[in-house]
Amino acid sequence: MATYRIRHCEQLSGEVSIHASKNAVLPILCAGLLTSEPITIEKVPLLTDVETLVDILTECGVHTSKHQDALILWSDEPRSPVSENLLSRMRASVLVMGPLLARTGYARVALPGGCAIGQRPIDLHIKGMQALGAEAQLTPGSVTLQGELKGGNVYLDFPSVGATENIILAAVLAKGTTRIENAAKEPEIVDLCAFLTEMGAKISGSGTGTILIEGQRQLHGCIYKPIPDRIEAGTILCAAAMTEGSVLLRGVRPDHMRAVLFKLVESGVKLKETGAGLRLSGKASQPIQVRTLAYPGFPTDMQAPMMALALKLRGTSVFLETIFENRFMHAREMARLGASIRIEDRIALVNGGHVLAGSTVSSTDLRGGAAMILAGLAAEGETVLKDPDGHIARGYEDLPGMLRTLGADVTMDEWDSADANG
Ligand code: UD1
Repeated sequence: MATYRIRHCEQLSGEVSIHASKNAVLPILCAGLLTSEPITIEKVPLLTDVETLVDILTECGVHTSKHQDALILWSDEPRSPVSENLLSRMRASVLVMGPLLARTGYARVALPGGCAIGQRPIDLHIKGMQALGAEAQLTPGSVTLQGELKGGNVYLDFPSVGATENIILAAVLAKGTTRIENAAKEPEIVDLCAFLTEMGAKISGSGTGTILIEGQRQLHGCIYKPIPDRIEAGTILCAAAMTEGSVLLRGVRPDHMRAVLFKLVESGVKLKETGAGLRLSGKASQPIQVRTLAYPGFPTDMQAPMMALALKLRGTSVFLETIFENRFMHAREMARLGASIRIEDRIALVNGGHVLAGSTVSSTDLRGGAAMILAGLAAEGETVLKDPDGHIARGYEDLPGMLRTLGADVTMDEWDSADANG
């Protein structure tokens, strides 16, 4: 689907604006299933994951229309999606389950797909729906849930982002009060709750481990602008830290990305928050230790871009991945450029500071693909990155364009998969 060409880069400088957060927008769009009144979501990023979700929502009976960069959604008679192919393309498709069940008393969804970074079960989502009174029937490849939802107590064995969102999206229309314990605390959860509150939902405790939701008979339309993308911002900062220069990010929320900012400072760059945005200057040089954790810990989505930065840091950087069990696939591709990385189960030891040489590499998953663009900036000569599954465009709106704005030489050619076969 796409080939990226990346040339070695010594310096990035200038300004870029950060787009709205993919992971905030996706659950918010699913709220189109909750009301017959239009919800208007402003500044929706141009991502293939958004396109896929809109196709899924359309199958679910959601009406959508575009007005400049806003997306307007509403649904009179929502229904379960039928196309397993669409659902299997992205993990977030499972988020239609909660709102569908709450609004119609029935949801049948195919088991979701997405990046192959781990097993990614949905047991916690289902457990949550059962705690709200739904009956679940699992068949190979799909799950059917039915029942009139009532408020209930849910304890999540792990603070899953998706399960917390799905349960919130169901509980806002359930009869009575729902309490979620060990809920995820990510900024995207807080944003979803702020948005649902605009729709008339009654939610307290978002951003903490205990969320209380008082179900309402119905919700109404609203206009909402989601938070900026902390992962896109972090990816650009890692690219800037690999090079000498001074980069200003506009429209960021530094308070959403403290763990990443601390690691960047530990690596030796300077960060300054000003009225205009967040400025990074200097060049990283010190190796780092990174342990991925649920928020406010270091985000697993930033592990791969941070590993690309570690390729430039003289000495051994250590990465411990605790969230997903198969999230070091990019390390193999980095090795093709000459990187020295040893993987031991969930630990990666990156021996950085070596000269890398451009080569042909592959995009293994969304964040791993973005990390390979960054690795290409570090490598001498030209790196050709093949992304046949279009991973990068799923979650970054024009990453090459953003990097070009800062002075990098990165281009993308789209090609038809039929060409590859022919
Ligand atoms: C979301 C983000 C993804 C990010 C991840 C962790 C979206 C669209 N995606 O994914 O970018 O990497 O959070 O911050 O917002 N788990 C279970 N059972 C479940 C659900 C999850 O065991 O029912 C496990 C998963 O396998 C994984 C861990 O919990 O090991 C975290 O997953 P979760 O927080 O649910 O991630 P997602 O919502 O899929």
